[in-house]
Amino acid sequence: MSQRKLFVTTALPYANGKFHVGHIMEYIQADIWVRFQRMQGHMVHFVGADDAHGAPIMIAAEKAGKTPQEFVGEIAAGRKQYLDGFHIRFDNWHSTDSAENTELAQGIYRKLKAGGMIATRTIEQFYDPVKGMFLPDRYIKGECPVCHAKDQYGDSCEVCSSVYAPTELISPYSTLTGAAPELRSSEHFFFKLSDPKVVDFLKRWTQDGKLQPEMAKKASEWFEAGMADWDISREAPYFGIEIPDAPGKYFYVWLDAPVGYLASLKNHFDKGQAAAHWHEPSRTTQSFDAFVADPAVEQVHFIGKDIVYFHTLFWPAMLEFSARKTPSQVNVHGFITVSGEKMSKSRGTGIDPLKYLAIGMNPEWLRYYIAAKLNAKVEDVDFNPDDFIARVNADLIGKYINIASRAAGFIAKRFGGRLGIVSADGAALLVTLQEAARPLAALYDGRDFARALREIMALADKVNEYVDQNKPWELAKQAGMEARLHDVCTTCIEAFRLMTIYLKPVLPSLAAQVEGFLRSEPLVFADAARLAGEGHAISDYKHLMQRIDAKQIDQLFEAPEPATEAAAESEAATVLPGGEGIAPTITIDDFAKIDLRIAQIVACQKVEGSTKLLHLTLDAGEGRTRNVFSGIASAYQPEQLVGKLTVLVANLAPRKMKFGISEGMVLAASHADEKSEPGIYVLEPWPGAKPGMRVR
Ligand code: MSP
Ligand code: ZN
Repeated sequence: MSQRKLFVTTALPYANGKFHVGHIMEYIQADIWVRFQRMQGHMVHFVGADDAHGAPIMIAAEKAGKTPQEFVGEIAAGRKQYLDGFHIRFDNWHSTDSAENTELAQGIYRKLKAGGMIATRTIEQFYDPVKGMFLPDRYIKGECPVCHAKDQYGDSCEVCSSVYAPTELISPYSTLTGAAPELRSSEHFFFKLSDPKVVDFLKRWTQDGKLQPEMAKKASEWFEAGMADWDISREAPYFGIEIPDAPGKYFYVWLDAPVGYLASLKNHFDKGQAAAHWHEPSRTTQSFDAFVADPAVEQVHFIGKDIVYFHTLFWPAMLEFSARKTPSQVNVHGFITVSGEKMSKSRGTGIDPLKYLAIGMNPEWLRYYIAAKLNAKVEDVDFNPDDFIARVNADLIGKYINIASRAAGFIAKRFGGRLGIVSADGAALLVTLQEAARPLAALYDGRDFARALREIMALADKVNEYVDQNKPWELAKQAGMEARLHDVCTTCIEAFRLMTIYLKPVLPSLAAQVEGFLRSEPLVFADAARLAGEGHAISDYKHLMQRIDAKQIDQLFEAPEPATEAAAESEAATVLPGGEGIAPTITIDDFAKIDLRIAQIVACQKVEGSTKLLHLTLDAGEGRTRNVFSGIASAYQPEQLVGKLTVLVANLAPRKMKFGISEGMVLAASHADEKSEPGIYVLEPWPGAKPGMRVR
């Protein structure tokens, strides 16, 4: 088999928050694949970096009272403990806010421009006159032009689901300052993705086996919908890379982010680490430029399902039309949920990776569990605590580790620590295990880790059957069974060695301990072709892995102390209560203009043709009822609300909606970023309040 040359990356995480278990899952997936390739003798450069640029990071830094560079530097300093903690071994970790990235991104842009791939267009955009900057859509809110719901985002309405341009909002305001934005025009640069040359290239590129079938299908749907040119410039102030020959203009963050893959690799080469690396197969004498242009090098990206568009359309097109090599594989994974629950951007999931490590949970339990759930498809993965305990305790420890613990003591005590002769039945079993090397390698290479581990556990079952048939603990008590005991225990140790080879990409630290115990050189896949052999001396067995204690899981999911939570939040420095800043100050007179009344929900119905709205009939003590349409259908069933008291904005101008007239609004709490942190909570007064009472 000829040696492959691989350049492997994971998505570059935004440098405005700590790692959550979703990041860790992606890194574990890529790390297993990389370790496997190295065990096949292939050369791999595996790099990552922080994605440092963009408006959200600039704004978060400002809120934290830091320069963007300081801000992302602090985030970067926190990365190592996660990566080391979970045995994720990148060869290099860099930043998109770096000299290498500036040079590479500007170089790519120059090539695109020289090739006629950049168009210039004047566009009108909202500008915050107080802040002195153009506003990204996510920082503009206003009244929906269709259903007139207040406080809707600049791109779409969460109440009626309409999609529109921010300029169509009624009474728009900047969420940064509350100011009314002004329309201003400026010149923007576009990458001409709609150019037939680009479309033809992408149609071919996405359909020739580089993508998973479901992703190739997705891409063809995108082509049917039509390709639009891509706006790649932003006006100052912006934390990013300056566009050559365009003072005051910066690359949009997604232009320079994937270039960061190349920048981290270049930084790695420039440090000289590529030539003098810990793993022999990665010795390289090529320069960075020669390496990335080498047709033999395979460029492999691991990413999540939310950023496919950027990696299968924009990125290959950028590379192709700047005369660079395009990726060889883009491997997309689904999202991890915890007990079926989606992750929230600000709170992460119930699993805090650092807490997991701090309470002494073994990182290889998580690596094993995630591997056992991952395949090559774009499917979500659920972390289920009971399943986690079962797989680790029953499979990994019960089936695999136990093989060594049952045999090693006899070898040490009775046979001077040396392996003996394996007779026919043991030899047949070992051949079965050895023959699995090739199919298991194919499964690892194809990223079907779940199937690989299932097959390995099926082998473990065979070995355990052999142990149960031969009962070494009984042989040990019988006279004249010395040779058979040695034979059986030797078979077990040889089987354990073979299984360790197969599990090593997933369990690198455990494998290193086993190598010590077996007095073996670092194991690679080719070592499965040979056995350790008669007379080979092994060391005393020390316990290799603890079982998971259910109490640890309780501890992992325990809510943090309020004090630590507050500390963690100030550390992250990006989280505001409810996800949005406090609105500008008002006077008591301003407040008094709003007539809030206690109202009883006397009836409630679903609204046909709307997934968002419920139709409420309210009694606010006026001797008549009111109709109110409220965007709470995602959170409540009508029957849950009937009979409850709530708070009504009673003097809001009635408004005509597609479904009828709405005569007021009920109060409900929600996070500013409802996409990442869903949940709507209708307000309910304490017992004793009566319909018609004023809230003041
Ligand atoms: N900065 C961009 C990527 C730029 S790549 C040139 C970004 N960063 S991110 O921090 O939001 O996400 C980083 C990676 O984590 C992405 O691949 C994303 O899909 C992945 N995940 C985020 N949440 C996840 C889960 N819940 N589960 C698994 N992976 C998830 O996007
Ligand atoms: Zn609307």
